[in-house]
Amino acid sequence: MLSNTTFCITTFGCQMNKHDSEKIAGMLEQLGSIPVETNQEADISIFVTCCVREKADERLMGQVASMKNLPLRKGTPFSKRYVAIGGCIGQRDGDNLQKKLRHVDVVFGTHNTEALPGLLLEAIETGSKQSQIVEGRAEFHDDLPEHREHPWAAWLPISVGCNNFCTYCIVPYVRGHEISRPLEEVVATAQRFVDEGVKEITLLGQNVNSYGRDLYGEPKFAQVLDEVAATGIERIRFVTSHPKDLTDEVIERFAMHENIMPALHLAVQSGSDRILAAMNRRYTAEHYLQLVEKVRKACPGIALSTDVIVGFPGETEEDFQATADLVRQVDYSQVFTFIYSKREGTPAAKMPDDTPREVIQDRFDRLVEIVQESAYRQNQQQLGEVVPVLIEGSSKRDTLMVSGRSPRNQTVHAEIPEGVDIDQLKGQILPVKVEEALTWYLKGQLLDFPAGAAK
Ligand code: SAM
Ligand code: SF4
Ligand code: F3S
Repeated sequence: MLSNTTFCITTFGCQMNKHDSEKIAGMLEQLGSIPVETNQEADISIFVTCCVREKADERLMGQVASMKNLPLRKGTPFSKRYVAIGGCIGQRDGDNLQKKLRHVDVVFGTHNTEALPGLLLEAIETGSKQSQIVEGRAEFHDDLPEHREHPWAAWLPISVGCNNFCTYCIVPYVRGHEISRPLEEVVATAQRFVDEGVKEITLLGQNVNSYGRDLYGEPKFAQVLDEVAATGIERIRFVTSHPKDLTDEVIERFAMHENIMPALHLAVQSGSDRILAAMNRRYTAEHYLQLVEKVRKACPGIALSTDVIVGFPGETEEDFQATADLVRQVDYSQVFTFIYSKREGTPAAKMPDDTPREVIQDRFDRLVEIVQESAYRQNQQQLGEVVPVLIEGSSKRDTLMVSGRSPRNQTVHAEIPEGVDIDQLKGQILPVKVEEALTWYLKGQLLDFPAGAAK
């Protein structure tokens, strides 16, 4: 139905969107459309959007606006380029987007990704604009095809939505309340992935730790980990964990199951109890540090990563110092640092916010310095070690090298012996001796590879 057409998906935002984009690609390919890398080559341009910070909003508007004047692809069967917007901005703004951006043909939301092909076909056939937004529904759609970026790595959403209402965050308003997927379905999907040869599953949820509360009356994330680990999958990761719901049972799972990777993303947001309370995070810095201690005891050498917001309304230098101290103390492997962005409709948008922009930027820069030092220190600890790396393909820096991920989720580049076919290494877990450890990556020698990979 879409044969002889091409499509390009631009994805903003979090893993939820990346996963939705894989489903969209799968559905369009099933209709005969061909994925391409750039909008220039595309007859259909799809934007899967994020509104968590203002910058993401602005970038989308700019990119979509530029579609209007982009020349059509030579050989396109259409007389125009079709443009579709989905994801969180689609959900938030609905058909208002088509009033602002008149060349947008289709708008869909976060709860009805599966509707996109039908809406697109309707727009193509009738020439009319299509928009469909659904509120508060969770369809996990295991039946939809998906085109995974890497065939050996799969996202597995265990819940959608969020009930936490952190005061700065728009996510609960666009993704709705938390809905968990039944445990047997999660496990059946994990099993199917294993049968298909997937090596790494990443369990997804805005707060995986509260998984099951809506379905079973109590969180059951530890059980999810047990059952997914029992499928025999080689690597399990999960994002994201809210500190207030991280239980001892979940922490113990790092020690119990070898296939749970030694990496934990535990968003702290701030090190100041005053700011944490204003953010409605419902834990203190002390509680967070106790969790870190427990996690490191259960899994020595675990890589900890986090999110930090700088410049929340009313943040003082003292509050910032508390954050800087906490970040130094935890010694993270990776920290995602964000400048607070006011989101209309959230409680924080109404809080007095008079910290000058330069002061916030200065705090941000100081934090980034601390973060870089600890990331470097953490990577240095692996010098001389042999780490199993899930190979993704040739390295972007040097096509004669391969790159992949270590169990601690570090990027590893490795030199390969002469005469080895890189394509044969993709998706394999192979030993790399670490010889260089920098802030953002490790580098080393591939020690072994399957016999069939020799050219
Ligand atoms: N649910 C996840 C959690 O709580 O860990 C993360 C959700 S959010 C998509 C990812 C990160 O964006 C948050 O952890 C927070 O640091 C950041 N964020 C959310 N709203 C923000 C805002 N208004 N301004 C700046 N950063 C924000
Ligand atoms: Fe946003 Fe907080 Fe929910 Fe994370 S836990 S998605 S930061 S409201
Ligand atoms: Fe952005 Fe929506 Fe994710 S707002 S971070 S894409 S849930």
